[in-house]
Amino acid sequence: MRVILASDHGGQNLREDIANLLEEMNIEFEDIGCDCEGSVDYPDYGIPAAERVASGEFDFGIVICGTGIGMSISANKVKGARCALVHDVFSAKATRQHNDANILAMGERVIGPGLAREIVTTFLSESYEGGRHANRVEKMMAYENQ
Ligand code: RB5
Repeated sequence: MRVILASDHGGQNLREDIANLLEEMNIEFEDIGCDCEGSVDYPDYGIPAAERVASGEFDFGIVICGTGIGMSISANKVKGARCALVHDVFSAKATRQHNDANILAMGERVIGPGLAREIVTTFLSESYEGGRHANRVEKMMAYENQ
């Protein structure tokens, strides 16, 4: 499994926590920043991260900003991205099983690092169930190709 990790300045601390977690989990990942001294623009990190998931270079993306909202909106502009903004463990599980989410967005100003670690662990360990969910996911993805 290969994961790409990105944040703006609002998500930098949590991104560093999650990088440590991925190391502990022995998951291969690339951290594309930001190396934020001041403030940066979240689309400059969220869009490239999503592009590299959508291209197949990475299996999953994790994108973090202050709220997770800017990053999730940015990532979902990329064709092939299914980015879920998640701040609870139940949704982390459900979005992998039901939506086949390939990118996880979180907000550093919304949740603490302990919960974020549980969310990431759950997101990366659950699998897409297909079945009754497949038609729904296929409809979402077909809309992008119109
Ligand atoms: C940056 O201040 C903040 O707007 C950003 O991190 C994010 O929360 C946007 O959605």
